Amino acid sequence: MSDAQNAFLSFLYQLDDADWKKVVDELQWAIHPVDSRATRIWFAFFPVKLHRALADSDDPAETARRLLLKGRYSLADQVDSSAEFMYGHRYWPDVKRAVAEYVGQTLVCPPPVQGTDRQKSVSLVDQIREVARKVAENVNAPEPLLVGVVAVAFGSLQQVGLDLFRRPAAPGKYGKDWSKSAEKVVEERAKDDKQGLMGIFRSVNKMFTVNFCEQNPGCSFKVLNQQDVTMAGRSYKGDHTAQDSRAMPGEGPIPVECRSASCGSCWVGVLSDTGKISPPNAREIDRWRYFGYEGFTGDKDSPIRLACQLKASGNVTLVIPPWNGQIGKLDEKEKSAAA
Ligand code: FES
Repeated sequence: MSDAQNAFLSFLYQLDDADWKKVVDELQWAIHPVDSRATRIWFAFFPVKLHRALADSDDPAETARRLLLKGRYSLADQVDSSAEFMYGHRYWPDVKRAVAEYVGQTLVCPPPVQGTDRQKSVSLVDQIREVARKVAENVNAPEPLLVGVVAVAFGSLQQVGLDLFRRPAAPGKYGKDWSKSAEKVVEERAKDDKQGLMGIFRSVNKMFTVNFCEQNPGCSFKVLNQQDVTMAGRSYKGDHTAQDSRAMPGEGPIPVECRSASCGSCWVGVLSDTGKISPPNAREIDRWRYFGYEGFTGDKDSPIRLACQLKASGNVTLVIPPWNGQIGKLDEKEKSAAA
């Protein structure tokens, strides 16, 4: 590997979650609305601070135990599927190949190792857009559909390393069953279920739909107006325990334990308009900090929420992360080492 390639990877490996937040914030306007929230959610689901805490640990199993990690928290185990909730994931094999090749061509684009935070993020923003533009031309798709998933590819490369990342994508469907256009998906997220002829007279007994795996048909359950989303999930008739070992029979697809914002099991990403769910109260916001989601949330329009604290007032589209835990337990030593 050339010095320039090494320098680029060194630059990539030194990025932290705050750097990625700046990058994703700057890219927001360039990402198609179908994936703008999804991109933010992916970086929350796979935080650099967790990756570093495990990678730098002398005893990763003990660290995982201390952080109460459950589910599939290693990105290396799911590099080709971690972003399957993104519409742009259908281009993943091309995106992965293009990003790996881009690293091999960094001699034509010197990596911005030096510079201010602003320069670092702007430079990476430009590089992500450059790769997105090339892939968009190759796959004959609009560039905004590629920008988010290309950012995710660079984030994945940072955590799994070049040797693993440059392997061809594993055979898979890559969104081939998700036949709707991106515009149609956005339109459907905004719609609420029709309430029938007597709907205007209903208030409490209005019924809506919660979709928890948008790319797969049938992954939804009904929720009453203002009902707790995790309680409503109990009506889900499918067996989600085969897909997610954390799901408990009869409790619905969203992993739950306490239902009182105490355990963090039920954290989810919110893809639909947050105006259709109850806003976070002070306790939930406090628990975000405790669980370690800070940096990925926002008091208004937060893409990360605790599902047991959500009350629906319209159709809701969620993403269930593949793991849960309390990374707020990372002590100051680990945090400063990860910074
Ligand atoms: S179920 Fe424990 S925080 Fe929601």
